[in-house]
Amino acid sequence: MYYSDDVIEEVRQRNDIVSVVSGYVKLQRRGSNYFGLCPFHNEKSPSFSVSPSKQMYYCFGCGAGGGVFNFIMEYENYTFPEAVRYLAERVGMTLPEEEYNEEARKARDLRSSVLEINKIAAKFYYYQLRSAQGQRGMEYLKNRALSDETMKHFGLGYAGQDGTALYRYLKKQNVSDQLLKDSGLMQVNERQGMYDKFWNRVMFPIMDVNHRVIGFGGRVMGDGKPKYLNSPETVIFDKSRNLYGLNFARSSKEKAMLVCEGYMDVISMHQAGFTNAVASLGTALTSRHATILKRYTDEVILTYDSDEAGIRAALRAIPLLKEAGVSTRVLHMEPYKDPDEFIKALGTDAFRERIEQAENSFLFELSVMEKSYDMKDPDGKTRFFQAVAGKIAGLELEIERENYIEAVVSRYQTSYEGMRKMVLNVLMQGAPVRMAPRRLENENHAEKDDGILRSQRLILTWLTEYPELYPTVSAYIRPEDFTDGLYSEVASMLYDQLSKNERNPARIVNHFTEPDQQRTVAQIFNTEVPVATEKEQEKAIADTIRKVMTYAVEQQSARLDPTDLKGLQDLIQAKKRLERLSGLHISLSAGKDK
Ligand code: UTP
Ligand code: MN
Repeated sequence: MYYSDDVIEEVRQRNDIVSVVSGYVKLQRRGSNYFGLCPFHNEKSPSFSVSPSKQMYYCFGCGAGGGVFNFIMEYENYTFPEAVRYLAERVGMTLPEEEYNEEARKARDLRSSVLEINKIAAKFYYYQLRSAQGQRGMEYLKNRALSDETMKHFGLGYAGQDGTALYRYLKKQNVSDQLLKDSGLMQVNERQGMYDKFWNRVMFPIMDVNHRVIGFGGRVMGDGKPKYLNSPETVIFDKSRNLYGLNFARSSKEKAMLVCEGYMDVISMHQAGFTNAVASLGTALTSRHATILKRYTDEVILTYDSDEAGIRAALRAIPLLKEAGVSTRVLHMEPYKDPDEFIKALGTDAFRERIEQAENSFLFELSVMEKSYDMKDPDGKTRFFQAVAGKIAGLELEIERENYIEAVVSRYQTSYEGMRKMVLNVLMQGAPVRMAPRRLENENHAEKDDGILRSQRLILTWLTEYPELYPTVSAYIRPEDFTDGLYSEVASMLYDQLSKNERNPARIVNHFTEPDQQRTVAQIFNTEVPVATEKEQEKAIADTIRKVMTYAVEQQSARLDPTDLKGLQDLIQAKKRLERLSGLHISLSAGKDK
């Protein structure tokens, strides 16, 4: 860490988490907490909570959680030091100079270092393109009708014939081999050692929303294979959460976003003035992408390639976007293949016209469906309408269903009554083809929780909510009785605070620098059981203390080395305490009433 703990704590204290998060998420007060729609997963009802007293956020839906720094890191894709600087600036605080001594350098987190190397590489490629060696790349890009200004705007570059040029350049700057491997810019081969991943290609730096280079795409200047080579996933590059061009598109004045397939499409569209274009870079659009798009817009216009693959990609993207609350239209590119070709052939105005004519996504889905029925055959036509009715029945709102019945009737010249009855029939059969509401419920860190960890979390959550429990809890349960290493570390820090009459769980979260650890700590402090009354609460606390203590004694006993006299004495003591515990009664109001 290269800001001192005190500096970090001051930044944290001056940035109230409710006010910071409110800048990104619409929050509503409910009891002592605030709730809103989680910015980290798609949801329709709010399960994202922010606690002013704990200065933490936690999503009961996806498990995202942490303190104010963590939130900014997740949302803005910042490293920890970047988040510290950002929040300091937000409150007009001047930070002391960063320390770059040897130790600080080592302690710098990996993400910062990998970011820096990618930045150096971007500059390297950029100058190569504009040097004598870069002539071939420059000719290629000019041939593709890119202006100097566009090339500069997108930071385009060139990796030359020499497959070790970047390697040698970075080595000269004392970058370690390990870091080179982590950067995603190198390839390793037993015979040749390490060499550049990209050579003999024009280079497209991929930037995150804050204009930082996180990876590259490199295109062959001709027909070689693969056409594009991309950076692998690294600590800073996650394809499922980045959209090419979003760093510019996020500040476009247009209401909708144009989503396309590739680098060249984004660049051509921006060059033609459509600065609201982004691409998911060859990979299918993910629900993560949809969630991110929703931060900036309510409407997406899909400008995928007009081929089979483009249609399939659109069909996959539509429901994901819908689920994120983004409505979608589909642009027809025919007879051209992609936006780049279209704009080259017909120009800006024609493209703008196509944007205006873009088709409602539901009707687009119907047109695709239509192709698999023989519409000239009466039976084929009936089957098609039956499928249409099934789809309409799957819509959530009656008014929506009504509107689409009307749209279908007018498009396919069929009878209104007939269509309405068909839809009704499907609904009556009670088997509408409704999209199953997907529960993201902790997909990754699933509740495989064997109850004991959950009980241990409950104790720690309660301690932050009712500090008056501390003397009782600490009399029975020691920090080392928490079975998971991270849990006992957290417990020991919390005990330390509480023994000094302090309660600052957010500071404990900050102590951990790994996002995974921060998530777990957030979870530790946000575990709840549904209880109705104070009496139930008191009973739950007493039961949980007993459970955790019993488990700890069992563990201790199982691990005991028979020759360890001290351990044996400890165990006897613990068993005595456990006996006393059976009569434990917790009273929450007693402390408060006084
Ligand atoms: P396309 O093949 O449609 O390329 O792939 P393009 O964007 O139109 O590029 P040009 O005009 O032929 O130069 C669409 C996107 O899919 C990814 C790239 O992100 C590309 O922009 N892709 C494609 C790859 O990653 N690797 C490939 O080999 C091909
Ligand atoms: Mn293309």
